[in-house]
Amino acid sequence: MSQPTSVVLLHGYPFDRSMWREQFDFLDAAGYHVIAPDLLGEKHDKLQCVADADPREPDREAKACCTMDDMARHVERLMGMLRIKQAVVCGLSMGGYVAFEFAKLFPERVRALILAGTRAPADNEQEKQGRIKQAEQMLAAGMSGIAEASLPKLLGPRTIAEKPDVVNRVREMILAADPERAAAAQRGMAARRDYTRDLPGLEVPALIIVGRQDQIRPVADAEFMHRGMRNARLEIIEDAAHLTNMEQPEDFNRAVLSFLENPV
Ligand code: MLT
Repeated sequence: MSQPTSVVLLHGYPFDRSMWREQFDFLDAAGYHVIAPDLLGEKHDKLQCVADADPREPDREAKACCTMDDMARHVERLMGMLRIKQAVVCGLSMGGYVAFEFAKLFPERVRALILAGTRAPADNEQEKQGRIKQAEQMLAAGMSGIAEASLPKLLGPRTIAEKPDVVNRVREMILAADPERAAAAQRGMAARRDYTRDLPGLEVPALIIVGRQDQIRPVADAEFMHRGMRNARLEIIEDAAHLTNMEQPEDFNRAVLSFLENPV
């Protein structure tokens, strides 16, 4: 009997694996082997990047930087433990950066890529400073200010008006995030590479997904990746902003299934 195709779902920031609930259930029911790890490790574990820091560093928790490389290696270790040789790697936003890093580090392990609400270029100086500032705010004041400020950018107007359950789920997810871990991820994103040069070398089939109303990673970012890759398909989801998979799960799942059944 042939093995089912494995699909690894990589969440965005400052979220956790629960953002993939609808995709997990849908793909599992369709016969795929789905894995959705928490990219910063399990909640009760010490952050790997803190465990690895010099123990003489007094502020190591507060200054922790969890890089895209750290997260990609965490995914690879998990695949090794689960004896998965190769998978379709699907990342949303920060998860997309991790997918790029994973594809660079472990190309033989990638069967196809799904890049949602993400972009290839690195941050400019202003964006980096914004992340460092946000990391400091989270450590000082927790997640609630960030939750309220980011909801109108993460979700489209229609989701906000008509899907209170989605709005609440996203808010709860942000409020449940550990500020230390979220700050470490912000620093890691500020330090991430520019993936633009990787694009032409990515030969595996790719599906690029973007929400029509995404202000964080707009359609132009998706079109840029689409132009740069050899074997990519672009899917624009209507009535959705940054969290396409939660805002329009049926459209998202349909696009993913059609790609998995018939990669470009
Ligand atoms: C995310 O949703 O993962 C973040 O918006 C990514 C980012 O801040 O670049």
